[in-house]
Amino acid sequence: MSQKTWGGRFTTATDARVEAYTESISYDRRLFRQDIRASQAHARMLAEVGLLTESEAEQIGAALDRIGERIEQGDFVFSTALEDIHTHIERALIEELGDVGRKLHTARSRNDQVITDVKLWVREALDQLDARLVELQRALLDAAKRHRDVILPGYTHLQRAQPVLAAHYFLAYVEKYQRDRERLADCRRRVNVLPLGAAALAGTSLPIDRQSVARQLGFEAVATNSLDVSSDRDFLLEFVFDLSLIAVHLGGWAEEWILWATTEFSFLELPDAFCTGSSIMPHKKNPDVLELMRGKTARVVANLQHLLVLVKGLPLAYNRDLQEDKVALFDAFDTVELSLELAAALLRQTRLRNEVIADKLEDGFLDATTLMEYCIAQGVPMRAAHEAVGKLVRLCEQRRCRLADLPAEAFDSVHPGLSSGVYKVLGVANALAAFRSLGSTAPAEVERQLEVWSARLA
Ligand code: ARG
Repeated sequence: MSQKTWGGRFTTATDARVEAYTESISYDRRLFRQDIRASQAHARMLAEVGLLTESEAEQIGAALDRIGERIEQGDFVFSTALEDIHTHIERALIEELGDVGRKLHTARSRNDQVITDVKLWVREALDQLDARLVELQRALLDAAKRHRDVILPGYTHLQRAQPVLAAHYFLAYVEKYQRDRERLADCRRRVNVLPLGAAALAGTSLPIDRQSVARQLGFEAVATNSLDVSSDRDFLLEFVFDLSLIAVHLGGWAEEWILWATTEFSFLELPDAFCTGSSIMPHKKNPDVLELMRGKTARVVANLQHLLVLVKGLPLAYNRDLQEDKVALFDAFDTVELSLELAAALLRQTRLRNEVIADKLEDGFLDATTLMEYCIAQGVPMRAAHEAVGKLVRLCEQRRCRLADLPAEAFDSVHPGLSSGVYKVLGVANALAAFRSLGSTAPAEVERQLEVWSARLA
């Protein structure tokens, strides 16, 4: 009998270059646990419907456990001649059990098998990622609490805009990662539908029980169209999109902190353990981890692109192109998982330098918009108030002073009596304290959000 599981109709051996070209064992061996688990459930079901005897199913289940242990311990020979993980495990089973092993692949195709394995793998990956995201959210929340008294200059267009509490800044990322978690949870619903039993593409004439397999493997539902199953990679695309967005969120933050670590900003000093030096410039301490976090976003997004292009124009059911899906899947996951772990660790070890931040906080008219809003509250129409404060800013620039340094007449010329209360909102601390809208950086609002997130992430 041929080494190949499909060798029956072939008369000459496969070209060695073709074996090297078509193999996937170099990367899909990662699925061995899932492949074994799915095969054990399949065998159990085959016994339930009478396609295997109880004893055969037990022999298969036990032999698969032994094969799993051998792979785990590195005591298993992989060969490109056996293509993929499914063939390797089936071949090893046949070596152990002979004809009993030859029965396992009853009412099953690698087309529904591979995607069942991948779904089991992605399901675990989703749960692992969720845990990593929670870890990062907790690190952000702790940073928010550690920097409770820090006021940051908030930027738009990277120009000074309005003051924000550091806690508000950190919580902004907690929100982003919360949406990432929700996206993963939503993706999980579509992952958790059983493909196995669709067989090659049309189902099977054998009396299988797909519900039993679904129950055993913890799938919430059974895929209802066999033709759809083997070409469906939608959940993978969604998953890698979710990973891409996480990578984008990490990359934006990394860029911010690279900037904040410059001599020009000096808002923070990165821990030595997360930086590297220069081979020629003795004084250098470079933010490599953050740069790579920003840079690796490219490969995660490229992996999404890889998948989109891979499935574009594919006809229904299985096509071998699909084998390439796992390359992108594993790379995207590994990259994001490690980035999340490092981001949380870096956050925990970094302190914002409030002495530097506070020193320049009064520069850049961070209180100008609050002043405009104060004018509006006193009855000045918004557009007129905008114009008037703009002029006051220009005056300050001429006099090289701050808005709070302007004399009462300057404000009274905008609106009679304005000067009487205006100094209470000028200066960054006052401007910040004046915020009150829901979701704003108002200290009471931020305190409330800190409580909400402390409870949610407890
Ligand atoms: N190694 C293949 C993959 O990853 C498994 C499915 C192969 N199916 C087939 N009919 N050749 O997609």
